Amino acid sequence: MSLLFNSYPLARSALFSLDAETAHELTLSSLQKAYDCRLTRGLMASRPEKPCRLMGLSFRNPIGLAAGLDKNGAHIDALGNLGFGFVEVGTVTPKPQPGNPKPRMFRLPRAEALINRLGFNNKGLDAFIANVRKSEWRNHGGILGLNIGKNAATPIERAVDDYLIGLEGVYPHADYVTVNISSPNTQNLRALQGQEELTGLLAPLQEKRKALADLHGRHVPMVVKIAPDLDIEQIDIIAALLPRYGVDGVIATNTTLSRESVRGLPHAGETGGLSGPPVHALSLRVIERLRGQLGIAFPIIGVGGVVSGKQAQEKTAAGANAIQLYTGLIYRGPALIGECVRALG
Ligand code: FNR
Repeated sequence: MSLLFNSYPLARSALFSLDAETAHELTLSSLQKAYDCRLTRGLMASRPEKPCRLMGLSFRNPIGLAAGLDKNGAHIDALGNLGFGFVEVGTVTPKPQPGNPKPRMFRLPRAEALINRLGFNNKGLDAFIANVRKSEWRNHGGILGLNIGKNAATPIERAVDDYLIGLEGVYPHADYVTVNISSPNTQNLRALQGQEELTGLLAPLQEKRKALADLHGRHVPMVVKIAPDLDIEQIDIIAALLPRYGVDGVIATNTTLSRESVRGLPHAGETGGLSGPPVHALSLRVIERLRGQLGIAFPIIGVGGVVSGKQAQEKTAAGANAIQLYTGLIYRGPALIGECVRALG
């Protein structure tokens, strides 16, 4: 295994002495610098293979990067080089927006968890597409997911307008598009998971996608990303609607509002979405229910609290076809990617 992968625990103690968002930015810029230099690029490279097919796409392996780590799609090649089978970037909103005031990202090391209330801080769709176009990841067999959302200033009744703008913009550049309706940090966004609201969103998106498929001569899979905090009835409603509106897959799940397993820990009282191991059981419950409702063939991407190969196995046992990582990477570093691929072998 490469030098970089082995040295992560050392780098981590330095990074954890910084504010969480500063450490995040420093990590991404260092990773990019190391990738831009030919010598260090090779040291970082990893290509664990476990080929699989999902949504009509060929994946090198079923372990992916979850959305939110590279919101502007500015580091796709550097991140992909770490060994992922697929990389999802965004959430992008039509217009640039600053997100919530800082500090807005907190570590809970004893739970290997994070709480964030970033609020879709991003440079907007035009900058995002310019970045994506520069990336070479797809030319080298990597799968690219582009994740779309709504601007904070767009009233929730007009949310569909933002998603339509997002879909149209990212469509020609994506292997799949994720419709994110589950961030807890944009007011009322999660209400879009309700029966009426979801129907009102998916029907026009399906229409738009048909037009885009004709225009570009290519069917780009569309997946919906949902929350871990849904009750059984809500999950069943979503499971009934997804195939009805031609949705190709589901990502389960986003961060949780629950604090049950971290109560009493420093920062546990911060507002925002909790990620890492506390989400694992919650997301497993959603995946299991979805699998039961949707049958064996419907693609499910499992995400939430994968910090070792063990949780990756549990996600697939619950019914996930592929897995995404975010918080586990912060605590374990890029060696986690290969560990998860091997665990599924
Ligand atoms: C996220 N996540 C996220 N998801 C999404 O669809 N769009 C986004 O912009 C973000 N932003 C974001 C920022 C930060 C700091 C975190 C920690 C997470 C959610 C992420 O993709 C994933 O669904 C959850 O974090 C659960 O997985 P982990 O982190 O427990 O592996």
